[in-house]
Parts: sequence; C-alpha cells; structure tokens
Amino acid sequence: MLQAKLRYDDDMLDQPNDMNGETNFILAIDGPAGSGKTTLALKLAEHFGLAFLDTGLLYRATAKKLLDAGATADDEVAAEHAASSIAATDLNPDQLMTEIIGQTASKVAAIPAVRIALLDFQRRFGDGGKGAVLVGRDIGTVVRPDAKHKIFVTASVEQRAKRRCKQLQERGVAAIYANVLEELCQRDARDRSRVVAPLLQAEDALILDTTDQSIETAFENAKTLIAKRQTAA
Ligand code: C5P
Repeated sequence: MLQAKLRYDDDMLDQPNDMNGETNFILAIDGPAGSGKTTLALKLAEHFGLAFLDTGLLYRATAKKLLDAGATADDEVAAEHAASSIAATDLNPDQLMTEIIGQTASKVAAIPAVRIALLDFQRRFGDGGKGAVLVGRDIGTVVRPDAKHKIFVTASVEQRAKRRCKQLQERGVAAIYANVLEELCQRDARDRSRVVAPLLQAEDALILDTTDQSIETAFENAKTLIAKRQTAA
C-alpha cells in the first residue's frame, strides 16, 4: 500500500499563488504521451504551491516489477500482485522512463484489477492539504471527476514523437524518429481503446493544444484557463 506523498513539502505551503483563496484545489491534467502534460503539470504545481503526482509512474512501476519478476503483461494475476505491492520508493522516474517500461505500462494499465489496486492512493493524494496537481490519462474522468479544474493537454502525434525523440536523446538513448512515432501511435491506440478508464477528455475539461507552443507559452495559457474557470465559478 502506498503511503508517501510525492513532491510535497512544507516550503510549498508558503509559496505565493493566485488560487483566489480556494481550498483543496485539485487540478486534473490528462493527455496522451508526449503532449507536454507532465512538464506543464509540474510547473503549475510549483506555481500554486501544490503537491504533485505523476500517476503514469504508478503504472510504470507496476510494469517494472512485473518485468523484474520475469512475468509478462499477459499475466493478469502477477500484474495485480505487482500493482498491490507498489510503494512510494518504487516511483523513481530515473528507473522508469525506458520505452519497454512505457509499452508494458500501457498494457498493464488495461487490466481492471491493476487500475483498482492503484486507485485509492490517487484519490486520496493531496487530501486534507491545500490541494494537488495530478497528471495522467483518467484523472478528470475517473480518479477525480469532482475536480473543478481539468485540462486536457494535446498535440499532434508528429510533434509528440519529435519531443519524445529529443527527450530520449538528451538521456543518451539512441532514438529513431520513425520508431518513436510508431510506438507512440501504438500506445495512443491502446490507451484510447481500452474498456476501463480509456484516455478521454472529460466533458468539463478545457483543451490545451501545445503543438505549436513552447512550455512557457503552454504554462501561461494554462494559468489563463484556470483563472477563467475561477472567475466563472
Ligand atoms: O504518462 P506515462 O507515459 O508515464 O504513462 C505510462 C502508461 O501508463 C500510459 O501509456 C498509460 O497506459 C498508463 N496510464 C494510465 N492512466 C494514468 C496514467 C498512465 O493508464 N492515469
């Protein structure tokens, strides 16, 4: 059972922000791989002084446990077992960002029992504090449908593949654009077509298309969307 909070410390509680006095501020950010959602979500969490959870790490850590145990994503019992045993110490991004782990994560993420095993921690994350930013695929639809602030971050698949290639190359991993593009398309198709909690824009989510936006522009635009929703409330 997961116990720890991620990216949450006392300093964050003292940071200035423009939350208009909202308490338990939950910001749900969803979108496909490579859309820039995680970088954006982290910047927003820092800006608002909120706890931050990248929920993709939970599925990636489950995938890693499974692979380390010599099992495959077809083994639903082993996958559920792996998901149930995830601890916060398993969520180190440095060990989880390989392409094989990403692909296996999207396979285990289609197993209902895995999603159930990981749900409670996500739902409780940030409760009782000032609030939290959660980023993933189903935050606005399943994990926190009650969130007042929901942003669906998207970008063209070509742009996402370009970004993913750059990220991999910066990490010293040889990446071929055509392969990365194909892997992204496969992962998108799997994430969008699964029966349980597919990648889907919540009806009340605001869309942010980052295809032609730098991270700074996307950050400014996201803050504008949040401010608009606050004013509309
Ligand atoms: O976001 P990231 O690429 O790290 O996520 C890895 C995989 O985990 C995704 O392809 C998706 O299948 C799964 N995932 C999910 N629900 C989330 C977060 C991630 O199904 N909330």
